[in-house]
Amino acid sequence: MIRAAITSVGHFLPEERLTNADLEKLVDTSDEWIRARTGIEERRILRDKDKATTYMAIEASKEALEKRGMDAGELDVIIVATVTPDMFFPANACQVQAALGAPKAWGFDLSAACSGFLFGINTAACLIESGRYRSVLLVGSDKMSSITDYTDRNTCVLFGDAAAAVLLEPDTNGNGLIDSVLRTDGNNWEALCMQGGGSLNPPTHETVDRKMHYIHQDGRTVFRFAVSAFINVAAEVMQRNGLHSEDIRYFAPHQANQRIIDAAARRMGISSDRVMLNISRYGNTTAATIPLCLYDWEHELRRGDNLVLAAFGGGYTWGAAYVRWAYDGVARPPVAAKEAEAVA
Ligand code: ACO
Repeated sequence: MIRAAITSVGHFLPEERLTNADLEKLVDTSDEWIRARTGIEERRILRDKDKATTYMAIEASKEALEKRGMDAGELDVIIVATVTPDMFFPANACQVQAALGAPKAWGFDLSAACSGFLFGINTAACLIESGRYRSVLLVGSDKMSSITDYTDRNTCVLFGDAAAAVLLEPDTNGNGLIDSVLRTDGNNWEALCMQGGGSLNPPTHETVDRKMHYIHQDGRTVFRFAVSAFINVAAEVMQRNGLHSEDIRYFAPHQANQRIIDAAARRMGISSDRVMLNISRYGNTTAATIPLCLYDWEHELRRGDNLVLAAFGGGYTWGAAYVRWAYDGVARPPVAAKEAEAVA
């Protein structure tokens, strides 16, 4: 049986750090509140006006290809998961294809908010399992700062900018994406959205004045739904694959709120040392969170390790996946190792 296995991971993080102390100067908030309610200490911000989601996606992709020793000419498909595309069209994937020099690849963008990577890995797996495609590049990239209102304390403390990319290739040794549970429920879309800029509310002075080009979130409503939804799909994936907590090497959750992650890990019976948690350093980077976790923990992963991935996002969209890791992680260069130590 052909499965789609992750064979490399790359990432891009902007240099600039926006700390809780910086945010205290912008809105009525405190480091204590942000840490206690979200687990976030700082986020990365791509300040350069000439660079956006595509730039970060390209950088992350280059690293993934280089680590694998793969020429971009071998790529069959490029999928960019994002809610902050450089522009509505052409798709970000087109510019990624051109910048990488991938003449054989076709590609498209995938919009599923914070579940983008999870929906993307399933899409990529279907392409590979069909036998028609052998190498799919999946990138999660979001410049959340471009849609964040830095006068709104309800949202501006939550998000950061980043990209991370994975390569997916066929595996016939039992590794790769084993199973997933994906869900969508459009009934509560208004609780988490950006209403301006699309065909319903094209940009006008009024949409700008009404701040419709910024992310809007009714945090409390989303939180309530997210906790149970997130926990239920993770538990369902474990149950239907006969996975017990001790079978799971790592839980790789979307990083929206540490309280949601802790609740899910408790229900799954997974101790904190087996939870990939880097929200304190990057905040919520939307489609980039899960691959960024894989990047940060890659050096610890071994072939055959069982991972459970889970995400929840706007839409609502949510899901969980069971992945069996396909390669032994390589030792980190000293700087990255020091950073990884800081995470632990
Ligand atoms: N600093 C200080 N106080 C604040 C801040 C802040 N930054 N933000 C909100 N508050 C206040 C509120 O105004 C409120 O005050 P009030 O009681 O006087 O009205 C109080 O704190 C509590 O507000 P809540 O919204 O109930 O706070 P909560 O504990 O729920 O935390 C948060 C808010 C962090 C947003 C949480 O609700 C959450 O994480 N929600 C889910 C996020 C999520 O999973 N989103 C999906 C993925 S994102 C995507 O798809 C793009």
